[in-house]
Amino acid sequence: MTQDSPARPSRINSTVATAAGMYDYYLGGKDNFAADRRAANEVLASAPEVLLLARENRRFLQRAVRFLTRDAGIEQFLDIGTGLPSQGNVHEIAQAEIAHARVVYVDNDPKVLAHSRALKITAARTTSVITADLRDPASILGHPETRALIDFDQPMAVLLVAVLHFIDDDADPYGIVAELCDAMAPGSYLAISHVTGDTRADHAKGAASVYKKTKHPATLRTSVQIERFFQDLDLVDPGLTYVADWRPDSETDIMPEEAWVLAGVGRKPATA
Ligand SMILES: C[S@@+](CC[C@H](N)C(=O)[O-])C[C@H]1O[C@@H](n2cnc3c(N)ncnc32)[C@H](O)[C@@H]1O
Repeated sequence: MTQDSPARPSRINSTVATAAGMYDYYLGGKDNFAADRRAANEVLASAPEVLLLARENRRFLQRAVRFLTRDAGIEQFLDIGTGLPSQGNVHEIAQAEIAHARVVYVDNDPKVLAHSRALKITAARTTSVITADLRDPASILGHPETRALIDFDQPMAVLLVAVLHFIDDDADPYGIVAELCDAMAPGSYLAISHVTGDTRADHAKGAASVYKKTKHPATLRTSVQIERFFQDLDLVDPGLTYVADWRPDSETDIMPEEAWVLAGVGRKPATA
């Protein structure tokens, strides 16, 4: 199974598992189909820690957005690979800190737009949801809804949280990230989380083999390969860490040897 072409957004097909549906299931959501639950349970049978990893990943996203608004003063977000609307969405976290913060959500799964419409996320003047593909960054950066909400002359944040591992090497993930970073003004930020095979390679590889049969095959990368995504940026403290260790605000139940998702936030320097 491979993803659709970047230029041709897919239609909703309930018979094939998707990353969004499986992640919704891990998080205890109700917006998943039987095919998503089957594939997710296959992952969990050999890697039960994925339930905790999904929750820790979501918490990282929320802590990163809180840091970006509260400490870095970022008011505009491009969240690519949004996932199905869940608890603590980016605009809710950001607008709790900065009421007029703006968020453009992007996902190549059309269910994300459909559910966002149902929840009226698309009705607000400060949020937009578009169906587009990370493998075609120009279509995201040039999209009229992106242009309407994001001022590219001002600092912004691009969020690539638990999505870059769905971009295989043939699609040039480093070129994609560089194109997004080029579009950001100095003082902007990039937040990434990404699965790695460095820890519990057997579990990570087992999960990746299940994702291979879904709409979203996954590619594991080493910590060195993941850190390379930040090559023109300054990593903010504490650097690239296991997802639960990035500026934690509570205890985690995840064991260090089971934490096979890495996370970091980088800042574009003035001279980059
Ligand atoms: C695991 S979810 C992550 C959701 C959210 N970012 C989070 O971390 O809580 C991954 C999302 O990336 C989306 N995705 C995968 N490949 C994509 C692509 N090429 N372009 C845009 N979105 C993509 C999937 O549809 C899914 O909704």
